[in-house]
Amino acid sequence: MFAMKKLFFVGLCSIFGAVALNAQAANLADRHASKSLTCVSCHDTAAPKEGATVSTAKCSSCHGSLQEISDKIHKRGNAQGPDPHVNHSLGLNCNECHRGHQPSVNMCNRCHVFEHKVP
Ligand code: HEC
Ligand code: HEC
Ligand code: HEC
Ligand code: HEC
Repeated sequence: MFAMKKLFFVGLCSIFGAVALNAQAANLADRHASKSLTCVSCHDTAAPKEGATVSTAKCSSCHGSLQEISDKIHKRGNAQGPDPHVNHSLGLNCNECHRGHQPSVNMCNRCHVFEHKVP
């Protein structure tokens, strides 16, 4: 009886563990680090200070324009709609959705109810 309860508890923990891992394995900065990028890659300094940000131009210097990102995702298939990168909200800043060190958000949901997963 006791052993059963313990087994059930361990099982639950691994389910929640797996869900948490899928939702946010790491933040965006950590995922970049896993591709051998460093703080300098985004911040131009190895010691960014509190309040530091990263410009859209910096992100685009590696990833291209919003249109190019959208084209790449659509070419691959399985794109989430409506298109988060090309839409009626012109001139979007990457940081409105993609956060460096916190969970990303979907700015569209200030007005809409979309279920995009934002990496
Ligand atoms: C993928 C690009 C990227 C990488 C790589 C990255 N950052 Fe950032 N960082 C950001 C963005 C974007 C912000 C703006 C705040 C946010 O979105 O979390 C930020 C903000 C910061 C801030 C200010 C946070 C605040 O709340 O005031 C610090 C400090 C910082 N980063 C440190 C680092 C350090 C140290 C590293 C390397 C270990 C690093 N960052 C790597 C994108 C990056
Ligand atoms: C120095 C080049 C460089 C810079 C600057 C950079 N990235 Fe990346 N980024 C990469 C590489 C390399 C990857 C991994 C390969 C890929 O998915 O293209 C990546 C991956 C990503 C991914 C996919 C992550 C995932 O886990 O699916 C997103 C989203 C992303 N970057 C957004 C950003 C944003 C937003 C910024 C600016 C804050 C930024 N990147 C700055 C090179 C860069
Ligand atoms: C309105 C929110 C939003 C904004 C603004 C935004 N993104 Fe995204 N981004 C997303 C979402 C959602 C996805 C996942 C799309 C999918 O899987 O179909 C994504 C995916 C990505 C990816 C992964 C592409 C891949 O091959 O899987 C990269 C890289 C990326 N964005 C970079 C950027 C950059 C750079 C900017 C700024 C120039 C930016 N994004 C602005 C929401 C946004
Ligand atoms: C400030 C509020 C606001 C934000 C933020 C916003 N939208 Fe909208 N959106 C609207 C309004 C208002 C309409 C037009 C009314 C309607 O058709 O529902 C609309 C219509 C749309 C439509 C219907 C077709 C079209 O193009 O007119 C799509 C698709 C759409 N938005 C996607 C997005 C995406 C993707 C984002 C995030 C990048 C976004 N919206 C952000 C207010 C907003």
